[in-house]
Amino acid sequence: MCDAFDRQFVFGVATSSFQIEGNRSSVPRGESIWDRFCEQPGAIADGSNGLVAVDHINHLDADLDLIARLGFRAYRFSISWPRVQPDGSGEWSEAGFQFYDRLLEGLRQRGIAAYLTLYHWDLPQALQEQGGWNSRDTVACFVKYAKEVARRYGHLVKSIATHNEPWVVATLGHETGVFAPGIKCRKTAYQVAHHLLLSHGLAVRALREICPNTQLGIVFNLSPIHAATDSEADREKARLDDGQTVRWYLDPVLKGIYPEDVWAWLGADVPQIEPADLSIISEPIDFIGVNYYTRGVAFNEQKSKPELDPDCCTDMGWEIYPQGLTELLLRLNRDYTLPPVVITENGAAFKDQLHSGVVNDQRRVNYFQSHLEALHEAVEGGVNVIGYFVWSLLDNFEWASGFEKRFGIVYVDYDNLNRIPKASAHWWAEFLNNRATSLKVKD
Ligand code: FCB
Repeated sequence: MCDAFDRQFVFGVATSSFQIEGNRSSVPRGESIWDRFCEQPGAIADGSNGLVAVDHINHLDADLDLIARLGFRAYRFSISWPRVQPDGSGEWSEAGFQFYDRLLEGLRQRGIAAYLTLYHWDLPQALQEQGGWNSRDTVACFVKYAKEVARRYGHLVKSIATHNEPWVVATLGHETGVFAPGIKCRKTAYQVAHHLLLSHGLAVRALREICPNTQLGIVFNLSPIHAATDSEADREKARLDDGQTVRWYLDPVLKGIYPEDVWAWLGADVPQIEPADLSIISEPIDFIGVNYYTRGVAFNEQKSKPELDPDCCTDMGWEIYPQGLTELLLRLNRDYTLPPVVITENGAAFKDQLHSGVVNDQRRVNYFQSHLEALHEAVEGGVNVIGYFVWSLLDNFEWASGFEKRFGIVYVDYDNLNRIPKASAHWWAEFLNNRATSLKVKD
């Protein structure tokens, strides 16, 4: 399969700032909403936080060496906004930027392309205190932050994604409240979603001027949603779930409209929008990032809830469903005029165990293999996919699950922070090496 993806196709590995960096630095970062959320009793499964995480901040060179040694030629990471601007407005932290200066220089030296994400959920707490993403003022702050990052780094990176998974920020952060900032209000959630999208559009407009050669886009978590049974009620629920998770985000960005059915369903909870907003949100982009983990199954009544065989699920309880990736991509390509697609995250958590220095995560290898095959099928079916990123380089702080769930292809021993490549890392190294050799043979 290694020659199934052409020469231009990019294989990379992904992380995010809060999940790996930690705060053990001589110049600590500002407080983020995740720091604050972790202090709430019961918010994080194992009571942990991101203060050390995997201490990437002090393991930078070793971690970049790992990426290079495994043969990845691209690295997706995010900037911690409160590290470079502790209050989310006003003063920049030069010491904070110096960390990313070193990161980008380290990538350049190793010939690894940089894929930067501006916002992977760690909003400066100071902005939350002024209303957070529910306030339109946060949009303006984000655009200033985006411009400063682009001014410094735009020419050094291959791509900039404005946001990672706005559905998660809006819904899990503001409707169910299981993620930071832990708010439970549907109206707020939809206003937040609108502001995230607006900030995306405004940032893209501004960044075009600053770094015209950088690929600009946004990353969504997307899944096909299947009805649990054939009942009208379950099918209707599936349509609505698809509206809330897929169309609510893709319609405004790619078509400049909000889906009518979801808008009507929201009733009094519809967001406040201004006349020019949708044309800003639909500013043309160079790529759309798709994070794919599983499918969704919608059921209207508890009695239709499907029983999942644990052997077919990851440690998150997410069903392993590779064909959903093919289905999703073909459907998106049919329903939208898509820019090039990057699979910005794909991966799985399993209960990995370190035995005599070895982690044999064969199930993760199978997961990657089957998803690459599914991806290839979508490419054959005409979808323009230009890259694929593994989630994740390292085991890390998995949000509300704390350190209990391991997604890395590299194991982190939390007693001493040692990094031990798992069997899946070795599998990737071999895959990438074979691919490089076969591309060379074709020259
Ligand atoms: C995605 C997030 C990423 C990671 C994976 C497992 O939703 O973008 O940070 O937590 O899930």
